[in-house]
Amino acid sequence: MHNTAVYPGSFDPITNGHLDLLERGLKIFDHVIIATAANPGKTPLFTLEERVEMIKTALESHPLGNRVQVDVFDGLLVDYVRKIPARAILRGLRAISDFEYEFQMALMNRKLCPEVETLFIMTGMRWIYISSRIIKEVVMSGGCVSGLVPEIVEARLAERLGGVHKTFTDPPGAV
Ligand code: PNS
Repeated sequence: MHNTAVYPGSFDPITNGHLDLLERGLKIFDHVIIATAANPGKTPLFTLEERVEMIKTALESHPLGNRVQVDVFDGLLVDYVRKIPARAILRGLRAISDFEYEFQMALMNRKLCPEVETLFIMTGMRWIYISSRIIKEVVMSGGCVSGLVPEIVEARLAERLGGVHKTFTDPPGAV
């Protein structure tokens, strides 16, 4: 597939920050493959099937959904990228804290597969403070993440983590 990028991740679960990055990636690439890691480094809250189902549902009514494919991969990311074959690996950067991990991963991927570049895109400011980890932490503690994740994810988090939501208020001056 020409002009295709692979956007890999754990997506445990997908957030609006991920969707923002996907949209930015689609300004550069004709097609983006969301590659969900079958065995991410950390133990996921959701199974691979659940993570994929949430991504697919979130993209169902998305205007750019026809240019996105949702897939899974196991083993080395670069082997998957070679197999597609895709032009680039797409990753998001939020803050300085992401940099070290991303830098290490990108250089290791380059060492393993010099012909594939990693392209970093800055996440939109609106989503700069969210991550799958912090979303799960908030829901686990009884907080509401409405507006930060797709509706399907909010529902699945409530089912899994027992979400009796506190009212979501967006006070003046909120992020
Ligand atoms: O959303 P995440 O957890 O930051 O995604 C990390 C992921 C899945 C992209 C990364 O762990 C990965 O590529 N795993 C596959 C194994 C691999 O290729 N490792 C070598 C690169 S360091």
